[in-house]
Amino acid sequence: MNSKISFQNVTKTFDLKDSVFTALDDVSLEIEDQEFVTVVGPSGCGKSTLMGMAAGLVTPDGGQVEVDGAPVTGPGPERGVIFQQYALFPWLTVRGNVEFGLKLAGLSAEERRKRAEQAIDLVGLTDFADALPKTLSGGMKQRCAIARAYAVDPEVLLMDEPFGALDALTRVQLQDQLLDTWTQQKRTVMFITHDVDEAVYLARRVIVMAARPGRIFRIIDVDLPYPRTEEMRLSPEFAQLRNEVWHAVYHQDEPQDAVAA
Ligand SMILES: Nc1ncnc2c1ncn2[C@@H]1O[C@H](COP(=O)(O)OP(=O)(O)O)[C@@H](O)[C@H]1O
Ligand SMILES: [Mg+2]
Repeated sequence: MNSKISFQNVTKTFDLKDSVFTALDDVSLEIEDQEFVTVVGPSGCGKSTLMGMAAGLVTPDGGQVEVDGAPVTGPGPERGVIFQQYALFPWLTVRGNVEFGLKLAGLSAEERRKRAEQAIDLVGLTDFADALPKTLSGGMKQRCAIARAYAVDPEVLLMDEPFGALDALTRVQLQDQLLDTWTQQKRTVMFITHDVDEAVYLARRVIVMAARPGRIFRIIDVDLPYPRTEEMRLSPEFAQLRNEVWHAVYHQDEPQDAVAA
């Protein structure tokens, strides 16, 4: 298999006052090049810790994490990270925020402007390019954070509950926009969510994790073609998949093989 991201027997523990807490216990997962996977699971099961390792922000205690066959030793521009909190610079405009990452990458002013414009256009913020974050809605701020990541054009997008704070309508719009973008420029995407519907709608595979200790509980293939449509979202096949993922997340102590549609 052509793995873009590879977690090999990854373990992470945290020392608490008088005990050791196992946040991840022997997690192995291969994510293919240009694959879109979502990660769901109960709060505290280690989703963010796992993604943090791919981002180079968390170091495993045991095992290895590789991107493109090379061990991850820290953050890098080929891996864009988007968190739930927008993390925009309040004193910079939308354009300024998007160009900021490109400045770090050492691009010329002209190239920065061009790339920022494309990314802002892609997320539908062209009319707000000169606005400051405080004048934007939550959905627009998150679009700006996404544009900033897209502009750098990373091969890997690591998204940790990026739409978690948004209203249902904005969330569905951003899901479609993200899939549109991904269809135009295929990237490898690892997307954490607590929304089962979102997990199924976006992914080719849904990774379901379990807690205490954090581990992979089940992997569910989503055999629906791209582009995903509203019709698909309302189809019986989708409902069946949603049930399966729901059961795997919320009924982990029950048998998993027979979920009624
Ligand atoms: N720096 C840390 N120190 C101690 N415990 C931590 C630390 N980071 C995470 N944890 C614990 O590890 C577990 C997994 O955390 P996290 O990866 O954030 O879970 P999730 O994203 O699935 O909700 C949680 O129980 C959390 O409290
Ligand atoms: Mg988390």
